[in-house]
Amino acid sequence: MPGGGISATSDVGAIEAPVTFKTYLMCAFASFGGMFFGYDSGYINGVTGSSVFIQVIEGAGKTTLSGPHNSLIVSILSAGTFFGAIAAGDVADTIGRKWTVITGCAIYIVGVILQTATNGLGLLVAGRLIAGIGVGFESAIVILYMSEICPKKVRGALVAGYQFCITLGLLLAACVAYGTGKMTTDASYRIPIGLQFIFGFILGVGLLFLPDSPRFYVKRGRIEQARKALASVRDQPQDSEYVEAELAEIIANEEYERSLIPAGGWVNGWLNCFSGSVFKSNSNLRKTILGTSLQMMQQWTGINFIFYFSTPFLQSTGAIKNTFLISLIFTLVNVCSTPISFYTVEKFGRRPLLIWGALGMLICEFLVGIIGDTVGFNRTHTDATGTTIANNIPAVNAQIAFICIYIFFFASTWGPGAWIVIGEVFPLPIRARGVALSTASNWLWNCIIAVITPYMVNPGEGNLKSNVFFIWGALCTAAFVYAYFLVPETKGLSLEQVDKMMEETTPRTSAKWRPTTTFAQDMGMKEGGKLDMNVEDVERKGSIF
Ligand code: BGC
Repeated sequence: MPGGGISATSDVGAIEAPVTFKTYLMCAFASFGGMFFGYDSGYINGVTGSSVFIQVIEGAGKTTLSGPHNSLIVSILSAGTFFGAIAAGDVADTIGRKWTVITGCAIYIVGVILQTATNGLGLLVAGRLIAGIGVGFESAIVILYMSEICPKKVRGALVAGYQFCITLGLLLAACVAYGTGKMTTDASYRIPIGLQFIFGFILGVGLLFLPDSPRFYVKRGRIEQARKALASVRDQPQDSEYVEAELAEIIANEEYERSLIPAGGWVNGWLNCFSGSVFKSNSNLRKTILGTSLQMMQQWTGINFIFYFSTPFLQSTGAIKNTFLISLIFTLVNVCSTPISFYTVEKFGRRPLLIWGALGMLICEFLVGIIGDTVGFNRTHTDATGTTIANNIPAVNAQIAFICIYIFFFASTWGPGAWIVIGEVFPLPIRARGVALSTASNWLWNCIIAVITPYMVNPGEGNLKSNVFFIWGALCTAAFVYAYFLVPETKGLSLEQVDKMMEETTPRTSAKWRPTTTFAQDMGMKEGGKLDMNVEDVERKGSIF
């Protein structure tokens, strides 16, 4: 690269390209990946209930899946996603964000083909494991890719689009499961499984036409490609002042971060994610803890109790005739509430969303628990026909209303918020691995909760009934305190400014922070000057670690 031509801005990062329609489209496209995530989480409940499918797995004449088979089929996906997400970070630093997601789509499609072709347990489990690895690649790296290419003004809103697609995927899965559940041929399971192919295909092929992340190119020292990619995602000519200023800042930040982090191989690359003091809010260790625990807390809110187990839970009261309809209402509330966050996350910021969202959820959860224990879900009798039925049906309805309000709070706050924040808090040298670890934490806790919840509520085991909401309420209280003390405000800042903000503030004072210098200035470049030295350094040291 002929070092030069990159000038800093005097306006501490305020200079930013106008966001055009094309920019929106390009940045939002990858959010389609959320469809896999939601659909994959949701469709299996319908398939495992199909009588044809049960016979394929258990043999002719069988009417239920055995416990171990059911749990293996459901949880093997999370195992795949967990390992897929962890591996994806390294892959994304090596072949790029875009190609990692495309590879994830290809792996996913192979897994889907195996599952669709299945005539027994072995192929199905192998297919779900492989598809899970693909989903792990995709769920971690789409967030990374989107966070790195979106303009800072609308980054939160666009990444929230990913969460919106998750909710659409869950809704579609519920509808397909309903539509195919009563079929008496093998279409009852091959259709819901095979449909996943379309998602992998659209995302994989569509991404071929988009550029990779400019930040990936800078990390690898390929500055000209970074410039081209940045110009493309900002819909600006390559020599535009906007592109110049943003590129200068990314390069200077990379140079600065690299000066702090010891160079080294693969092992050092991983060790860097855990370096520094746990008491310093800008240490890599703290950022890794922040990302992984944020995703853990998101799962602790108990949201997947609703999406995975609401049907048997509602059935247990005998008060609700059409449990599918109520589950559909839950899913619809989830879909319709998420777009509110497109606006609020940029207007009020990430911190208020997470703090107030946790407060709203915990109030609803405790109310569901209290009503259930005093008059609602937990008080039932057996009628003349021997059916269990709730004593006080209006009280059960009130509980359902509070569950809807709880879903509203989740969908408009923690649902998108957790994904937005993990894409923003890591510095470039550890960003891919940090996002990957955080996503893996989401899947790990997703799996843990899916495995242990039945034991808490099954009549023969914990039999907690709606008292389980006291547990979710207590965990949401932890999420509320956590968000207040530990989540910084990243709204309106470039990823490089987030880095600086975390260095200069604590989470509680972060919202007031304003940039006073740019990394380009700090790295020795005077206003309007050239960044030749930095550019050459970055090109020379371009690293995958
Ligand atoms: C969570 C999923 C959950 C979904 C519900 C996502 O953000 O990570 O576990 O099923 O939201 O919309």
